[in-house]
Amino acid sequence: MSGKLAEKAKEVFRESFSRGPDGVVFAPGRVNLIGEHVDYNDGLVLPIPVSAGTAIAWARSDGDRTEAFAADFGETDTFSPNKPEKPHKVDWRSYIRGMAAQMDGGLPAIQLAITGDLPKGSGLSSSASLCIAAGRAYADAVGNSVDATTLARRAQQTEHDYAGVACGIMDQMAVAAGKPGQAMLLDCRDLSYSHVALPESWGVLVIESGVTRGLVEGEYNARRQQCEAAASALGMTSLRDARMEMLEDANLAQPEKNRALHVVGEIARVRQARSAIADANLPEFGRILREGHASLRDLFEVSHPEVDLLVERVQETIGDTGGVRITGAGFGGSVVAVMPRDKVNRVMQDYAGRALRVI
Ligand code: GLA
Repeated sequence: MSGKLAEKAKEVFRESFSRGPDGVVFAPGRVNLIGEHVDYNDGLVLPIPVSAGTAIAWARSDGDRTEAFAADFGETDTFSPNKPEKPHKVDWRSYIRGMAAQMDGGLPAIQLAITGDLPKGSGLSSSASLCIAAGRAYADAVGNSVDATTLARRAQQTEHDYAGVACGIMDQMAVAAGKPGQAMLLDCRDLSYSHVALPESWGVLVIESGVTRGLVEGEYNARRQQCEAAASALGMTSLRDARMEMLEDANLAQPEKNRALHVVGEIARVRQARSAIADANLPEFGRILREGHASLRDLFEVSHPEVDLLVERVQETIGDTGGVRITGAGFGGSVVAVMPRDKVNRVMQDYAGRALRVI
C-alpha cells in the first residue's frame, strides 16, 4: 500500500474523530491495457493496477450510525450500517453505503476517514478502488477475511444498485486481485485469472485527456444493451461465443453489428496481446493497441475528438515501437501508452502534471 496515503488517512481519522483508528486499508486504481467493453460480454481483459488508489482508516464505534469523512471533498456522511439508504444523487456516499448494504446487516457501526490520490473521472477506476477499500475496511471491522472475487462481486453490485451503471467486473477484479506492477489476464466468463509480468524493457504510462463528460452511465448502459441485443439476435447468451464469419452472415441491424464487430475483434486482440508479451514483441503489442483504439472510435463509438488527437500526438512521439489508445469506459478520460522504457521520461515531460507512470 502507498505508505504516505495510509499515513494521511490515519491523520485525517485522528483529526475527525479525536482518537486513533483500529486499522487502515488500501485499494489501488487500475488501467486497462486491452480488452475494452468486453467484460460484460464474458470476454477476456488485460488490466493492470496503478500505484495510486484509496486509503481508509477505520474504527468500530459505540454508536448505531456509521460516520464517514471524505477528506478530498471535505464532506461527511452518516447512515445506518444495517439499512443504508441510497443517496439522492450519485457521489462517494453511494459507494460507501452500497458496500455496507452488501454486508447483509452484519456490519457494526464504524467511523471511516477516506482519502485517495486517483484523479476522478479519468478512467482509472476511482469508484472501484473506493468500493474495494470500503469492503476491506468493513470485512476487517467484522473480523472476517473475504476473498477477492467475493469482494469484487459486491463492488460490482454496488455500481449496479447504488450508482446505476450496469458495469462488468473487470475493474473490481483488477483492483481486488491484481498484483502491483503486473498485468492480469482475466476471463470474465468464469473469473479465472493469471498474473502476467511485462518485459523489463517496456514502460507504461497513463495520460489524462482532461475531457470529462456527464451522462456517461446512459451511454455505457446503452452500449451494453446493444451488445446483448446482438448476442440474442445470434441466438447466444453472450458475444464471447460469436465469430467474425457469423457476424458477416447474420442480418444484424446497426449499430448492433458494429458493436459486435468491436467485441469479437477486441477479444481476439487480448489473445494476440498476451502472445506479444510472451514474445516480448513491443511493435506488435503497439499495433494491437492502435487497432483497438480505431475499433473503439469507429465501431463502438466511445472515443472523443480530443482524445483521438491526444492519441495521435503521443503515437507520433513514441513511433511504431509502441502503441497508445483510449482506456476504460471512454467518452473522454485517459489514454494508455506502452513504449520502450527509455522513452518514458520524454513523454512524461511532454505531459507533465497529466501523466502517471504505471511501470
Ligand atoms: C468501465 C466499466 C468496466 C468496463 C470498462 C470498459 O470501466 O466499469 O466494467 O466495461 O468500462 O472496458
